[in-house]
Amino acid sequence: MYVSHLSCPKCSATFESEKLIQLCECGAPLLVEYDLSKVQAACKKAMLKDREPNLWRYRELLPVKAQKNIICLGEGMTPLLPLKNLGPQLDLLNLYLKDEGIIPTGTFKARGAAVGVSRAKELGVKVLAMPTNGNAGAAWAVYCASAGIEAVIVMPEDAPPIPRGECAIAGASLYLVKGLISDAGKIVAQAVAEHGWFDASTLKEPYRIEGKKTMGLELAEQFNWNMPDVILYPTGGGVGIIGIYKALIELSEMGWVAGKLPRLVSVQATGCAPIVKAFEEKRPDSDFWEGAQTCAFGITVPKALGDFLVLDAIYKTDGCAIAVSDDELLEASALLARTEGMFICPEGAANLSAARKLRESGWIKSDEHVVLLNTGSGLKYPETVTVKVPLLQPGERLPV
Ligand SMILES: Cc1ncc(COP(=O)(O)O)c(C=O)c1O
Ligand SMILES: [Zn+2]
Repeated sequence: MYVSHLSCPKCSATFESEKLIQLCECGAPLLVEYDLSKVQAACKKAMLKDREPNLWRYRELLPVKAQKNIICLGEGMTPLLPLKNLGPQLDLLNLYLKDEGIIPTGTFKARGAAVGVSRAKELGVKVLAMPTNGNAGAAWAVYCASAGIEAVIVMPEDAPPIPRGECAIAGASLYLVKGLISDAGKIVAQAVAEHGWFDASTLKEPYRIEGKKTMGLELAEQFNWNMPDVILYPTGGGVGIIGIYKALIELSEMGWVAGKLPRLVSVQATGCAPIVKAFEEKRPDSDFWEGAQTCAFGITVPKALGDFLVLDAIYKTDGCAIAVSDDELLEASALLARTEGMFICPEGAANLSAARKLRESGWIKSDEHVVLLNTGSGLKYPETVTVKVPLLQPGERLPV
């Protein structure tokens, strides 16, 4: 393992990585630092060709030491699909979708869970607790089941129902709260303080980012180490965008990619857009978003602990933040399904309407290479599709 230490992006404090740790003393999330020159010496791009198509192919840039602690359900190396029909319609001639919908549990949350749970197991965690908007809870519940770790999950009562079932069948202790993820977070914080459990809330432990980082590593490899121009990402807690940025920086430092980094775009819903508001006001962090509501439930995060890291990634890459309405993202979802045969989650669909707007405004040029990161499968959100079909009697003719 090539981890050198943990560091605080806010106050620059450093910590050793072999002890269980949560936040920095200053309250900021901690980041995992690697000895990149050693990684560079030990690992060559060509070696990847012989490795399994899962995220552990980048093991030198991941924090788990012993093979026996790795919980792998086949996560990672999701397809990068060119949108050959829809791209030209939108005057986006090099439009791609990276599809996390086919990963275990049907969302990219499996990546953070695979690495976070494996490292928690390695460091001796027996019980962990977390608030979730649903998908992360489902992913952590199944990986914890495999790791023999007890998972305590708290999610909003209004969260989509499928992740509830996933938590329940995997044997997690599941609670619903009449409120938002921020309310679930307060309940978890209290329980963790009382019972001494490990707090696996978004960014309150350093290893979930490392799992999400592999999306950036994969994109670089899939583009043959030439980076795309723009990556759009539906942002809630922001771990995905922080992770992708971290991946690109590490790859640049190792000399595996060169040139300008892709412009990172944080996409939110107009019903919960704290990062967009902060970006528009050119601020380094965000305010709590009152009355948050959107059908893209995974991005209903009124205030992210890592907001300053998301905004930093956007500013440093000349990216931007943009909000789309629920109507727009649902329309984009249907358009994608009709034109490309892809049924994606509402969060992922938000990227498509954002890309369309950014093309219309000229922020994205027609020939730029643009990636929509689809974070999950539409199959996890059956309630977002209204189905009105004729009901036939046995023996009835089709009315066509
Ligand atoms: C499908 C989906 N997309 C996006 C997100 C936002 O994730 P992040 O914390 O990386 O911003 C979530 C979070 O729950 C999600 O479930
Ligand atoms: Zn600090």
